[in-house]
Amino acid sequence: MKDIYPPINGKAPVLLHGGDYNPDQWTPDVWAEDMRLMKLAHCNAMSVGIFAWAALEPAEGRFTFDWLDRIMDMLAENGAYAVLATPSGARPAWLARTYPEVLRVRANRQRNLFGQRHNHCLTSPVYRQKTYTINAKLAERYGNHPALLVWHLSNEYSGECHCDMCRAAFRAWLQARYGTLDALNHAWWTAFWSHTYSDWGEIDPPSEMGETSVHGLNLDWKRFITDQTTDFMRNEIAALRTYAPDVPVTTNMMGTFPGLNYWKMAPHLDVVSWDSYPRWHKPGPDGAIDDIGLASEVAFVHDINRSLKGGRPFMLMESVPSATNWMDAAKVKRPGMHALSSLQAVAHGSDTVQYFQWRKSRGSAEKFHGAVVDHVGHENTRVFRDVADVGTKLEKLADIVGTTVRPDVAIIYDWENAWAMNDAQGPRRGDKGYLDACKRHYRAFWDRGVPVDVIDMDQDFTKYKLLVAPMLYMVRPGVDERIAAFVRAGGTLVTTYWSGIVDQNDLVFLGGWPGGKLREVLGIWAEEIDALYPGEANHIVPDEDNVLCLSGPYAAHDYCDLVHVEDAEVLATYGQDFYAGRPALTMNHYGEGEAYYLATNGDDRFLSDLYAALCADLNVLRSLRADLPRGVSAQLRSDGERTFAFVMNFNAQPASLDLGTASYTDLLTGEVLTGVVELGVYDVKVLTA
Ligand code: GLA
Ligand code: ZN
Repeated sequence: MKDIYPPINGKAPVLLHGGDYNPDQWTPDVWAEDMRLMKLAHCNAMSVGIFAWAALEPAEGRFTFDWLDRIMDMLAENGAYAVLATPSGARPAWLARTYPEVLRVRANRQRNLFGQRHNHCLTSPVYRQKTYTINAKLAERYGNHPALLVWHLSNEYSGECHCDMCRAAFRAWLQARYGTLDALNHAWWTAFWSHTYSDWGEIDPPSEMGETSVHGLNLDWKRFITDQTTDFMRNEIAALRTYAPDVPVTTNMMGTFPGLNYWKMAPHLDVVSWDSYPRWHKPGPDGAIDDIGLASEVAFVHDINRSLKGGRPFMLMESVPSATNWMDAAKVKRPGMHALSSLQAVAHGSDTVQYFQWRKSRGSAEKFHGAVVDHVGHENTRVFRDVADVGTKLEKLADIVGTTVRPDVAIIYDWENAWAMNDAQGPRRGDKGYLDACKRHYRAFWDRGVPVDVIDMDQDFTKYKLLVAPMLYMVRPGVDERIAAFVRAGGTLVTTYWSGIVDQNDLVFLGGWPGGKLREVLGIWAEEIDALYPGEANHIVPDEDNVLCLSGPYAAHDYCDLVHVEDAEVLATYGQDFYAGRPALTMNHYGEGEAYYLATNGDDRFLSDLYAALCADLNVLRSLRADLPRGVSAQLRSDGERTFAFVMNFNAQPASLDLGTASYTDLLTGEVLTGVVELGVYDVKVLTA
């Protein structure tokens, strides 16, 4: 059966290629040259207007669209499209001077001066009105323009504001959430340190000058910031919809940026997009370049973006064609890496490859940031040739537009869980290693070419065979029942130490961890948890004849949960310390399914062996029927009938891959491949059967 999404915009049923384009920084003679170069670079989509407010409304109520009219027309004349931005990411000086309320107030209650970008109040009626007005004007003017493809809302929404209006909005948000102060005082456990509130007006957002110890407050403030940002964004969308109801909207997100819960924003967008800036080419401990671990981490984030709308292709809105100037070392991409990293995004579900930036800025903070067109101004550069090469490759992949993957495996990475866990004091300071744990579990699948969805705990679990929930510290209402139903119906659950600890208010579950139904599903009770010092290790010693055929022993770090088995079977025990011999890995048969509990943070080899066994037992979907050499990744896209397996070599050395008797065509070269195939350094092949 066909399983395919429509293109982002039916006008352009192709993979999009282009980048942030700032003609407002340049003169018209340069624009003409840009058009010539865009064609040479095989670019077809330019993101325009991102920080162009001052150029579009140089004085209050005086609009100057002529330059943008010309750019939109030039794009259309040259067969290209516009990803047209709303300008709210930065405001003109006149706006800040006339209406100081639009500027952000910091947690210390000091109002920012005019400057920077992303420096606006989320609540200010003036800022919302001004944004609405200019967005509506853009929509009215360009809503039917042949070049318009998608709206790019603002830029990288982020940050918070502590002005009087935002604080009042927060209190109103709390009133709507809790109804009564009693309910809020209970949820926030305010009897602690005499923090009971007797009036809504006494509540202030967290601040170093005031409250930071009430975890419920911290958590709700973060939720409020996401909601208020989303509300701000919806006001922007409403303005666009007045004149351009059918043009899709997106906003460029930032991966696992902790400041916003993207799962709350995604439903309001037609397509998800994100900005990816990996630090490629870092030397490993032995001094040799090692991109493999990072490649898996980037894949994890791509998979979040694909999962945010249930598998719908996303947009790689920004990436760098060469060096990212703000990094410790602005490394250039080594030959081959540009195509590899670009096609990796496509492999995981992106229907675009876009850059920051098209033409390198001449002045200010980003004048040394990588760009397609360098200060030299012509096309005879290595970077330009690399970009043009990606453009020609994307043209060969038009058949994959709208295709996706339907994995059998999901990993839960949940923003609220991260917020709550990292705010806690204990079982270690600061970052608890949650994101890292999710990425390490993910790596075991990436190594074997097993596609994975990365979801939050509110998503549907029933479509998966294997649900992996590392450190599921927070369990929101109903999640434990849904997990129980999933396992009862035959699903396999893997969860770990430090799961089932608090509810949605960050209040600890009483009566034994893991709380709610999880204890019954897992068949264990976790009595206490030992935190290990950095470098300290225990061991996981598998029982002989364990059902997973694990041999071990494996090193274990960071946390050792001391659990009692209730219904579960013990598959492995601790090797050392006073708890040697107590359970380190358990499995419980529950209904038709199985629930595994990893009481400690096993090393990579442990996770690899564990998931190798589970993937084989459960016969999960693989991207390619082949054993992948280390550093070679495979990722599937399919239209439900035809399959496209991206094979990517992240090694700085060649690798060879045995395809066995199967025969494939590489869409990039047209070559027919079977048996052992050689992969060059950073090579990519797109295999179709
Ligand atoms: C972000 C922004 C861009 C640009 C790049 C530079 O992603 O959205 O405007 O500043 O960083 O890497
Ligand atoms: Zn504010």
